[in-house]
Formats: sequence, C-alpha cells, structure tokens
Amino acid sequence: MTDQPPRRRDLRDVETRIDDRARAASAPSSGVPRDDAVLRLVGVSRVYGSGETSITALAGVDLEVRGGELVAIMGASGSGKSTLLSIAGGLQEPTAGEVIVENRALSSLDAREVARLRRRSLGFVFQDFNLIPTLTAIENVALPLELDGERRRPARRLAEAALDSVGLDEKHDAYPDDLSGGQQQRIAIARAVVGGRRLILADEPTGALDSVTGEAVMRMLRARVDDGAAAILVTHEARHAAWADRIVFLRDGRVIDESQRESADVLLRTSR
Ligand SMILES: Nc1ncnc2c1ncn2[C@@H]1O[C@H](COP(=O)(O)OP(=O)(O)OP(=O)(O)O)[C@@H](O)[C@H]1O
Ligand SMILES: [Mg+2]
Repeated sequence: MTDQPPRRRDLRDVETRIDDRARAASAPSSGVPRDDAVLRLVGVSRVYGSGETSITALAGVDLEVRGGELVAIMGASGSGKSTLLSIAGGLQEPTAGEVIVENRALSSLDAREVARLRRRSLGFVFQDFNLIPTLTAIENVALPLELDGERRRPARRLAEAALDSVGLDEKHDAYPDDLSGGQQQRIAIARAVVGGRRLILADEPTGALDSVTGEAVMRMLRARVDDGAAAILVTHEARHAAWADRIVFLRDGRVIDESQRESADVLLRTSR
C-alpha cells in the first residue's frame, strides 16, 4: 500500500527474512535442495574397517548430477569409483555425509523406503552384472518392473523392447550362464534402463564389450539422458567418457579439482 510508512515495510521484509532462515534451520533435512538435481552427494566419506588397518575409500566427496546430465567418473583402480556408485545408489551407507536422491535424503528413509526408491528411480549396472542365474534374460529385465507392481504382460513387453535395443533380439529366453560376458552385460544394461528410471548408475558397462557394441551402449545411455535421466558412468576408456557432459576424476577417494586437471590428464592416460 502506498500510504504505508516505509519503515514498517522494511521491518516486515526483515521479519520475513528471519522467518525464512528459521524455517530453513529447523527443517528436518535443511541440506535438501529444491532444485532439479536428481542426485546430490554432500561431503560423502566411506571408511572400511577400523583402526590401523582401516581404508578410506571416499574422503569428503561433493557431487551433483542433474536431469539431462551424464557424468563420467574416471580414476585408477582402488580410487573409490565403485564405492561412490554403491553409496549413491543406497546399497551401502556413507560413514559421513549425505546422499540426496530426487530431493530425498536417504538417511531420512527407512530400509523399505530406500528399497522402493531404488526400484522406482534407480537403474544400476554392476561391475559384475548381478544377473539372477535361474531367470531368463527377459525375466531378469522384467523383474524390477514386476517387483514395482507392473503387471506381467506389460512388464515383459517393456523388457523385450529394452533387450532389442541392446541387440539381444534372439536371446530373450536364454539363461545368463548360456551367454557370453558381453551378452550378459547387455542384459544388465537393459535391466537398468527399462521403465524410464531417473537415475542410472553404471559401473564400467562397456568393460566386456567389443567396440561396436560398446558404442551402441553409450548411444543408448546418452539417449536416456537426453530424455531427462541423470547418469553416472564409471569408465576407464576416454572414448566412452567423451560421451559425458562432465568428467570427474577420483584419486584416493577424493575428487581432483579443476586446478589439478594436469594430473587428471596424466591419470587418464595411465589408468589402464
Ligand atoms: N567391502 C570392502 N571392504 C574393505 N575394503 C574395501 C571394500 N570395498 C572396497 N574396498 C577398498 O576401498 C578402496 C576403493 O575401492 P573401489 O572398489 O571403490 O575402487 P574402484 O575405483 O571401483 O576400483 P576398480 O577400478 O578396481 O573397480 C580400495 O582400496 C578397496 O580395496
Ligand atoms: Mg570398481
């Protein structure tokens, strides 16, 4: 109102600002951002074991991945890449720090809620595939959808399409043990991207693939990200990292910052 004394209006502004700050400070997880970051790691550390034999796999990692962003993680063997992925995916808890997936701090969820978030939002490609040997290719891919309440027929149709997209048209009914390493890896990739999940975490998904199939996998991952998913790709191969929007280098559990890019480049040349 125009006839309102200016001093009073100033006071109200100040009161509002104080209110906002008080709300932020008292919110249950005040670090949770309300933006479009699909994944946020804040000061994440992971120590295995205790005492003199303890190993610090991650030491205060901050990382944010937004929808539409593909981040490649590179670093020498033992630098903490798989540990970072499994913590980001809620498969293990950090020793310190916070993991926030789609604005929800994992530490604020109980085990069932974390499991549900994993099924709905998260596609994981493990370094060692993790396929279920007693299920066929198509059953492996359809399983997370069915666990999430999708009916059998539509789940199978989606699984078929995902397997076809990784070039496994002929192998829908094969069991993992009857397939090559590369074929098993492609089932794992189909399982991770089926059903349009928001966060894809892939640990060397091209490791066992020939270069043509590896590139097809990268193209598929890129397409999912361009559709709005967020993805982290652990890779030792520069030509696959080149598909990423950003490359993060890890060394001894720490992110090497931009000012150390020179050592990062050396690392890239020597990391396998
Ligand atoms: N379950 C565990 N118990 C004890 N130490 C572990 C465990 N998992 C990983 N580590 C150690 O933590 C460090 C990081 O391991 P991590 O598997 O994250 O490395 P990485 O970067 O994925 O390596 P690679 O490229 O060989 O897959 C290593 O020193 C490893 O030995
Ligand atoms: Mg690893």
